[in-house]
Amino acid sequence: MIKKVTVITHPLVQHNLTRLRDERTQPQEFRRLLGEIAALMTYEATRSFAVKKIAVRTPMEKTTGSQLEREVVLVPVLRAGLGMHDGILELIPHARVGFLGLKREESTLRAHFYHKSLPKKLERCEVILIDPMLATGGSAVAALDFLSEQGAKNIRLVSLVAAPEGIRRVCKSYPRLPIFTAAIDRQLNSVGYILPGLGDAGDRLFGT
Ligand code: PRP
Ligand code: URA
Repeated sequence: MIKKVTVITHPLVQHNLTRLRDERTQPQEFRRLLGEIAALMTYEATRSFAVKKIAVRTPMEKTTGSQLEREVVLVPVLRAGLGMHDGILELIPHARVGFLGLKREESTLRAHFYHKSLPKKLERCEVILIDPMLATGGSAVAALDFLSEQGAKNIRLVSLVAAPEGIRRVCKSYPRLPIFTAAIDRQLNSVGYILPGLGDAGDRLFGT
């Protein structure tokens, strides 16, 4: 199960993650660090994108090069996913962007949709689902179910911090889904927060 999960151990990723975890990091700095780490994680998360060979003429001669085979669609989960999508867009500026609004109910920890807008023809695209926190996995599974219903076939999940409980839940429903994270943390607490985690990502990002 765990072999589909890639933990990105690059020193710059781990450096930024530690600053994001730090309770003293304020929203302005948190936003900057989250954008930067998302861009760094994108290199690893997109490494297996399909490419096709194409002919290209340099000013000197003809040669062959590579082109992405499929269009790329980014799908940040609102709100906290917004903090990562800018950084990823900087590396893939031609990507289209969809949005899924999901809110976890505090008492039940069940995720409810409040917004859905996706580009068309997802079946032809590489879809990157973006959510900094994978806690119980309820939000990720709800988002993946909806993306699958809409025809998406090539999906990968980028989550900054993952709990073992969330990974297990996502892998149970989507055993072939590649997951990219900067850390698999110890556990969830009794109210569904990741330990050690970084607190409430949305609140820290937007200062709420
Ligand atoms: C947080 C986080 C994830 C979700 C993870 O969002 O950004 O989307 O919780 O938890 P889960 O794996 O248990 O579903 P939240 O619902 O708090 O909304 P927010 O981003 O607007 O703060
Ligand atoms: N959502 C967050 O923002 N943080 C957690 O630790 C769990 C869910």
